[in-house]
Amino acid sequence: MLEAIYKRRSIRHFLQKPIPQEDLNQILEAGMWAPSEKNAQPWKFIVIRGAERKAMVKCLKEGIMKNRKGEENAIFGKKYEKFIPSAIYTARVLEQAPVIVFVMNTKGLNYREDHPKDEYLMELADIQSISAAIQNMCLEATNRNIGSLWTCNVFFAYDELKEWLHEDGEMAAAIAFGYTDKEVRPLPRKPMDQVVEYRGDYPDEWKDMLK
Ligand SMILES: Cc1cc2nc3c(=O)[nH]c(=O)nc-3n(C[C@H](O)[C@H](O)[C@H](O)COP(=O)(O)O)c2cc1C
Repeated sequence: MLEAIYKRRSIRHFLQKPIPQEDLNQILEAGMWAPSEKNAQPWKFIVIRGAERKAMVKCLKEGIMKNRKGEENAIFGKKYEKFIPSAIYTARVLEQAPVIVFVMNTKGLNYREDHPKDEYLMELADIQSISAAIQNMCLEATNRNIGSLWTCNVFFAYDELKEWLHEDGEMAAAIAFGYTDKEVRPLPRKPMDQVVEYRGDYPDEWKDMLK
């Protein structure tokens, strides 16, 4: 399992080559078998290919430009200006990807409305479930030598894409899938002692069982 985890990289260069339906089905199946809070399975996967992909990217670019120009109804203000180039880059990557899967949070809260605290907390659980589904899909893709890119830069065109998707629920992410011929070097990870903190240890009488 760790092998697939290490091998998975964010792929930003895709060959113009289709993914066989059988592989795609298995990737989606991996997503469907993720754990979810109360088995709610709060997701829907919308698979974008061909001409739909072009229409989607057009919509994404329009949304990004709206942010770049700082238009009044743009979602991200000045604070996020520095992320615009990366959003444009992501749009270019999505433009190349033979398959893009939009992951909808079917129970998602409308971000333009206020919601009670309990609903926010429950949404956190749904987002964790959805993230597990996304990672399952990326790992199954890796297992089949298919590259993937998990993207949230699509949020720069949140309203535009939501309208284009005309789908209930809220957009959680878009994942690009496809083959690549580029080797991508892993980015460093923080050292274990920086991110892991142990508190307590097993009782002494258990320690023999570890020998
Ligand atoms: C929630 C989430 C959102 C991300 N959004 C984007 C994105 O919009 N564009 C992009 O190029 N990469 C995106 N990434 C990929 C990260 O940049 C990448 O996972 C990170 O740099 C580590 O590299 P690795 O995936 O190759 O290990 C996203 C990853 C996650 C988990």
